[in-house]
Amino acid sequence: MAAEAPTRPPQKTAILTEPLKERIRALFPRYPSKRAVTLPALHMVHEHYRCVPLQAMAEIAEILEIAPAEVHDTMSFYGFFPQAPLGDVRVWVCRSISCMLRGGDELLGHACKRLGIEPGETTSDGKLTVEFAECLGVCDHAPAALADDGRVYGPLDEAGVDAMLDELKKGRKDEAPHI
Ligand code: FES
Repeated sequence: MAAEAPTRPPQKTAILTEPLKERIRALFPRYPSKRAVTLPALHMVHEHYRCVPLQAMAEIAEILEIAPAEVHDTMSFYGFFPQAPLGDVRVWVCRSISCMLRGGDELLGHACKRLGIEPGETTSDGKLTVEFAECLGVCDHAPAALADDGRVYGPLDEAGVDAMLDELKKGRKDEAPHI
């Protein structure tokens, strides 16, 4: 019986576009090593896709000639780069000590229950991603929340969370914090 020809593992579809790869390579002269470009490259990909999927991580590693695990280490250390697309607005509800003592955890639960998601997830309409955060630096407004367009909310109660979610679901705003 003839031996079966070896099959190649399926190739994953590339995610990074050639222009994006070029922009990453263009950073090389500005850094002491290719490895040092890891963080700026992650930011570039995140800005472009609003997330850094596993495949993109592997492609960054290939460009920088390092192991994918090294890119993953940097990514998980900063905890800022999600692997799945985020909602139009990302909001963090604080659960550090000042906010926790004033019900921050319960308010996070209330927000997620109202939206039908778990912390870290995005609503099915893609409008909102709700996450927990450590101290947001506005403890005097505890319990507080921060949207990724700069809006700060607090002190919150359940009604305040409801109003915040209604406002955030209308989309991003470039306005001063309104605490
Ligand atoms: S503990 Fe929540 S803002 Fe500081």
